[in-house]
Amino acid sequence: MIDFRPFIATLSHTPLSVWQAPLQSQLDELFATLNDGNLPRFLKCIDQLPDVTDISFDPHHVELTTTNPLSDTDQTQLEHALRGLIPWRKGPFRLFGTHIDSEWRCDLKWARVAPHLSDLNGRCVLDVGSGNGYYGWRMKAAGARVVAGIDPSWLSVVQHLAINHYVQDPSHTVLPFTLESLTPDLEAFDTVFSMGVLYHRRSPLDHLAELRAALRPGGELVLETLVVDGNEREAFVPPGRYARMNNVWFLPSPKALAHWLEKSGFEDVHIADVTPTTTEEQRTTDWKPGQSLIDYLSPTDQTQTIEGHPAPLRATLIATKPAGAKRLRRYYLD
Ligand SMILES: C[S@@+](CC[C@H](N)C(=O)[O-])C[C@H]1O[C@@H](n2cnc3c(N)ncnc32)[C@H](O)[C@@H]1O
Repeated sequence: MIDFRPFIATLSHTPLSVWQAPLQSQLDELFATLNDGNLPRFLKCIDQLPDVTDISFDPHHVELTTTNPLSDTDQTQLEHALRGLIPWRKGPFRLFGTHIDSEWRCDLKWARVAPHLSDLNGRCVLDVGSGNGYYGWRMKAAGARVVAGIDPSWLSVVQHLAINHYVQDPSHTVLPFTLESLTPDLEAFDTVFSMGVLYHRRSPLDHLAELRAALRPGGELVLETLVVDGNEREAFVPPGRYARMNNVWFLPSPKALAHWLEKSGFEDVHIADVTPTTTEEQRTTDWKPGQSLIDYLSPTDQTQTIEGHPAPLRATLIATKPAGAKRLRRYYLD
């Protein structure tokens, strides 16, 4: 249904060549049994994208331009097709004069994270919970050789297809997978990102073990998640919803998260950044109508969520999988 073969071909002669066969089988199996009512509607939007020639792509600003301007009809058709893929949560993107002003200003998060990364030049990168691949373009701009985003949301996968329809970069994809369903123990990625995913996991230490299993020994983990103030022993498990989300489990303190990483077999763990989420970074726009952060905060005290919990605070931690690291041993209780 979606042709991922060009991406799989780019894995030849990289440490990810071991992934080519299992990845193709997993995709074949997925598409053989797929029954998602929305996907055909999303893919129709890709078919509606107008032809554009003489394209240039600036991955630093995630902006497409052309020296051959679109006719008014094509401009309208482009916007119509892209609006068919609303809500755009991640961005911003600029396509031939159309500005996709997404709910999240991901450029702000990238500006916080990027200065702390080991040089991405020539690296094979896994972006877990990639959304529509916004950050993947920034990783490519920083020199990454291959970026594999994984995200179980078909809307994210198809939004990426829309951008890549024009960029035509086979070395950057968004695959319709969870981390848990990724080929286990690949131990092949130079850098693994998990941003905005850990708090959605009921079992956060298993998430750390799965991230570690995807990394090569000596590789770097970039972990970004919601946190709370506190010492190395403290984590908050919200009763009920958190900022209206019903799938939030563990919000550790940054120090507790560093401890979890060390316990999970990472070294050189450091807290790179801790920043509150602002209504400048997450807000309602024309491309993501409805509610956003301002509606999830207490109307009388913006340091609290609507449920009375501490307002969203996010931390970025960087850690290394030790060179020569062995796989974590698995213990089972009978
Ligand atoms: C809060 S968004 C974060 C997106 C982006 N990484 C960012 O930092 O802006 C979480 C994303 O993770 C995806 N996701 C949720 N569970 C996941 C899992 N188990 N494995 C991979 N992705 C997951 C969701 O579909 C969603 O797109």
